Amino acid sequence: MAKDVIVALDFKDKEDTLAFLDKFTGRKPFVKIGMELFYAEGPDIVREIKKRGHKIFLDLKLHDIPNTVKKAMASLSRLDVDICNLHASGGSEMMKYAIEGLTRADGTRPLLIAVTLLTSIGEERLREELKGSLPLDRTVEEYAMLAAKSGLDGVVCSPLEAGKVKDKCGKSFLTVTPGIRFADGEKGDQVRVTTPALARSLGSDYIVVGRPITQAADPVAAYERACAEFLG
Ligand code: C5P
Repeated sequence: MAKDVIVALDFKDKEDTLAFLDKFTGRKPFVKIGMELFYAEGPDIVREIKKRGHKIFLDLKLHDIPNTVKKAMASLSRLDVDICNLHASGGSEMMKYAIEGLTRADGTRPLLIAVTLLTSIGEERLREELKGSLPLDRTVEEYAMLAAKSGLDGVVCSPLEAGKVKDKCGKSFLTVTPGIRFADGEKGDQVRVTTPALARSLGSDYIVVGRPITQAADPVAAYERACAEFLG
């Protein structure tokens, strides 16, 4: 798939989500559906948005025993999403089973990417609570390499990590990068932020943009701006 801007549909329900999408007359942004919306509305919201012609990254971050993840991925695959994800910390067997579950009878499947370490985990928590023995950046690299070895298509990471991930896992290994802000925008709760233009020069494949678009006075103009900066 070509590089693109993915809009995070972080809305509480179908009504708010569709009201937002209705603003995009003639444009069909690639969208991300996360836990909040999926748990509120169930798989029907995915079907509805797919029917409207959007590509979908279903961000449910699966993590369970391999057989359970395999069966859950088969359900997601039937929803015809374009990208879905899981936690690399579930291990290589879980990731391999996930690919088996996602693969349809005709051999096609959605792209599968891994969360390495959540950005809410800092060095101290990694060491003290999760008993990690490596520094955080090394842990992210190790999880990315494990995901690549398990046959996954890429990882979610910061644009600042995209180059390193590509060095370790290969150029075609996808980097899907949130934490995007316009140069003149609010950072909100994101700590390490990157502009769409910088994400482009750092080699991100997809940027995930939420509030800078969803909360903008003119969301369509903000989306066009993100596309212009990131895609050129
Ligand atoms: O509003 P904002 O642009 O910060 O939204 C970013 C989106 O990307 C949210 O849906 C958030 O949950 C998600 N995300 C993130 N950082 C990660 C993984 C996912 O911001 N490491």
